[in-house]
Amino acid sequence: MTTKWIVEDKEKENVFWPSEEMKKAAWVSDPKIYDEALKDQKAFWAEKAGALHWEKKWDNVYEQEPGKPWNFKWFVGGKINAAYNCLDRHVEGGKGDKVAMIWVPEPTDEKPVKITYSELNKKVNKFANALKKLGIKKGDRVGVYLPMIPELMISLLAVARIGAVHNVVFSAFSGESVKDRMEDAEAKLLITANGYYRRGKLLDLKKNADIGVEGTPVKNVVVVKRAELDVNWVDGRDHWFHELIEKESEKCESEFVEANDMLFMLYTSGTTGKPKGIVHDTAGYLTQAYWTTKWNFNAKDDDVFWCTADVGWITGHTYGCYGPFSNGITQIVFEGAPDYPDIGRWWKTIQDHKVSVFYTAPTAIRMFIKAGDAWPKKYNLESLKILGSVGEPIDEEAWLWYFRTIGGGRCPIIDTWWQTETGANVVNTLPGIGPFIPTVAGRPFPGIDMKLVDEEGNDAEMSGYLVEKPPFAPGMLRGIYKNEQKYIDTYWSRFKNLYDTSDGAKLREDGLIRITGRVDDVMKVAGHRLSTGELENAINEHELVRESAVVPRPDKIKGEVPIVFALLIDPSKATEETKAEIVRHVDKMIGPTARPAAIYFVDDVPKTRSGKIMRRILRGLVTNDTNLGNVTTLMNPECVEHLKEVVGYGG
Ligand code: WT7
Repeated sequence: MTTKWIVEDKEKENVFWPSEEMKKAAWVSDPKIYDEALKDQKAFWAEKAGALHWEKKWDNVYEQEPGKPWNFKWFVGGKINAAYNCLDRHVEGGKGDKVAMIWVPEPTDEKPVKITYSELNKKVNKFANALKKLGIKKGDRVGVYLPMIPELMISLLAVARIGAVHNVVFSAFSGESVKDRMEDAEAKLLITANGYYRRGKLLDLKKNADIGVEGTPVKNVVVVKRAELDVNWVDGRDHWFHELIEKESEKCESEFVEANDMLFMLYTSGTTGKPKGIVHDTAGYLTQAYWTTKWNFNAKDDDVFWCTADVGWITGHTYGCYGPFSNGITQIVFEGAPDYPDIGRWWKTIQDHKVSVFYTAPTAIRMFIKAGDAWPKKYNLESLKILGSVGEPIDEEAWLWYFRTIGGGRCPIIDTWWQTETGANVVNTLPGIGPFIPTVAGRPFPGIDMKLVDEEGNDAEMSGYLVEKPPFAPGMLRGIYKNEQKYIDTYWSRFKNLYDTSDGAKLREDGLIRITGRVDDVMKVAGHRLSTGELENAINEHELVRESAVVPRPDKIKGEVPIVFALLIDPSKATEETKAEIVRHVDKMIGPTARPAAIYFVDDVPKTRSGKIMRRILRGLVTNDTNLGNVTTLMNPECVEHLKEVVGYGG
């Protein structure tokens, strides 16, 4: 008999509550925690931060510059090191032999590799020493462009160990994306691999990395030898990871940094054409990463935690590195794709390694639903206790399938709302408290205060814009790298004294929040964040294109997919070959995650009198919305009729 962690509310359809067993097993099970934490948020978080190792305790829990709500600091004057908290603390506490990570390589003929906390610590120290020899000092930015291999986590922690700043670029992003990010961040060094496996193919990552460092301030490139693959080599600049660490000592003193010193930056898409470098500090981020991992997933010593997100995204930073490691638990690091060699791979991985906490995205769940129940049914998934969802709203069908078919009706689904900017989970339901309701994310995590407002920033009751109230959670971003004005404009200018999430939400009578989605020009494509402007910019750079407009179209599996309207310089080039060229160009400029699902060649796109593209109308056209809204105020209303034909509107 496996324990039922969740029970159905007999009165209401599809409402679930924690079982008595779950309440007993949970770190928190009394809903009073919410009110208590809000009574004194600073005291709550100070107590929470106390669970970490501090070289020197903070002088002041929280400071905010008068008149500048965005300029706040947590744990001012404290000295801390993130790697120390993820490694040394456990090793010194006698947990050195505990497995920190089980690495599952993609090729099935390669065996999974277990790495203990003490082994991980030594590797991190060796690499940290090597980085120092290559001239990396506190505050320097280090690019990390690696697939899901242990060296990825080792790199993050080694950079953190010496007080430097990591800047990860998702391995499926293009060389051009790496280049933009290395330039903007003024990175001194890039860590990459010679290759990696994706769906059975060995890909040459070094080729992209070479493009990515050209003409940038990057002086040294460290290359992990993931596979037998000959790659281009630049003597003096390129160094093999294994050769560097061979000579180094297993010991490296932690650089204890001020709580508000930068731990990392991570680029994410916004409304404008260029991704912005989101800046996260050390102590506040780590505090929220630690406690949300612990409470939201009820992380305990015997858990095997698996967050399927790539470390190229914030989810992988927080729940594939800092969260699980700071909690000293065992986690799975999986190199491959979910459908290789077959679509049972993840379920096999759960069975093989007795995964107890599984955290993934709705887009993956929808893909598994389509593949059929026979796949998960082949495997024993009884080790699972808690299931998580992140990245986009989860629809009821996907929720219930995940709950029944994967969780066997035993496991709560923790739907976690948050953003690259918030650093860690913000809205969700605690496993020992509940209720768990499809499409309802839950409440702000204890100690975080949110509300809904209308267009003018007045309190809204039932639905509105989701905003966070001061003092803001400790994990919140501290800026956009080198661009304070953009930081203020993007998050702090629409509503006074409130953090603007750019998400819409609905509030239920019981106080639970249902997220309705982005209210700006950001798309979620297979859970990945992408801006329409960024894609337009890339496409406009193609020599055949005069102008383009991109809108999202709902998709059964991916949630949303990008649809492109392109105006060509020479309309006679409107061919299938040009479409294929544009797709290749997008791959080169951004990466395959941004590939358009359809490209329409058109003569014109709807614009306001001031020349702004009216994406609302294009969105209506591609979704077959019967109400396109008022088109008479457009500069060029006549183009709409033609567009209707092109997209087959109303057909
Ligand atoms: C946007 C942030 C945060 C980790 C992964 C995404 C959407 C995220 C949920 C959820 C509904 C969600 C929001 C948010 N989102 N989680 N549980 N329910 N929507 O981080 O790439 O920065 O994207 O993802 O629209 O603003 P991100």
